[in-house]
Amino acid sequence: MLQDKLGRQFHYLRLSITDVCNFKCTYCLPDGYQCDTSREFLSVDEIRRLVAAFAELGTSKIRITGGEPALRKDLTEIIKVCKSTPGIKQVAMTTNGFNLENKVSEWTQAGLDALNVSIDSLKPEVFKLITGHDKLTSILRGLAKAEALGLNSIKVNTVLMQQYNASQFDEYLNWLKTNAYTLRFIELMQTGDNLSFFEQNHVSGESLKQKLLSQGWSSVIRDKAAGPAQEFYHPDYAGKIGLIMPYSKDFCASCNRLRMSALGQLHLCLFTEHGIDMRTLLQQDEQKESLKQALRLALADKTPSHLLQQGETGITQHLAMIGG
Ligand code: 5AD
Ligand code: SF4
Repeated sequence: MLQDKLGRQFHYLRLSITDVCNFKCTYCLPDGYQCDTSREFLSVDEIRRLVAAFAELGTSKIRITGGEPALRKDLTEIIKVCKSTPGIKQVAMTTNGFNLENKVSEWTQAGLDALNVSIDSLKPEVFKLITGHDKLTSILRGLAKAEALGLNSIKVNTVLMQQYNASQFDEYLNWLKTNAYTLRFIELMQTGDNLSFFEQNHVSGESLKQKLLSQGWSSVIRDKAAGPAQEFYHPDYAGKIGLIMPYSKDFCASCNRLRMSALGQLHLCLFTEHGIDMRTLLQQDEQKESLKQALRLALADKTPSHLLQQGETGITQHLAMIGG
């Protein structure tokens, strides 16, 4: 099992397959994706080798991320490759949902087990204001389709922002009365590109937690390996709530995330370092043992914590770079 010096175990890999995104989320890519140089993202063969090496080191779950993964034409094949790798039990994907309605049955047939979809407002016009796309109703239909197809975990990600959607907190809760999704409020993080936006829009996760507790929500006791979200349930609601609070004191202690960028760089933390290049070890099946050794060595170095509390965002300009 891959493990770091603090005893954090990594059974889960976040694999970015592109950094291109077609949305313009205010906090991430307000001017849209800017392409400076032409690059080649990991090929299906490189992904197959990478996932096989991780699986042999104990990784059992792959989350496909981006940018927007559905912009890749070979996404369905990538899902199949991940799912058919011995040792991989779960394949999840994080998407902005733009093609969910059209593609979710194809993805499910290919082996997709779990889905996270970003929905930053339940009001179509505010959704459009935040993302630049009038896609909310299609995304909601896509979610319903995913549920009908029996996907075993459907999560909705929402970043609350003071100037856009913070006032819709109650609307989100109402929505969970009848919808059995897990809604995750992700606390807005400062990145290299969004400093003044961050200052104007940050909503503290702790304030949401206090609101939930005062409205009868209870904290779910979670497994040590469950990752950094805190979860809440309420007997009157079909859905659950997760709070992702990167500014809270113990957030990094439970971090079980490892990230591979679409260019084959391993990132041990979203915020603290440059990636470690693994791509040269992805070119031939015969390199598998060297790749596994390089991964083990890299992990020994995972930093204990990010420095976001001190306003240090490292080199991270926006999260489309390595997929949140
Ligand atoms: N702060 C918080 N969440 C962010 N995401 C992207 N950028 C940020 C940020 N600066 C979220 C997206 C998506 C998830 C992958 O990451 O909303 O739901
Ligand atoms: Fe929005 Fe995600 Fe695209 Fe960034 S990468 S613009 S958060 S959909």
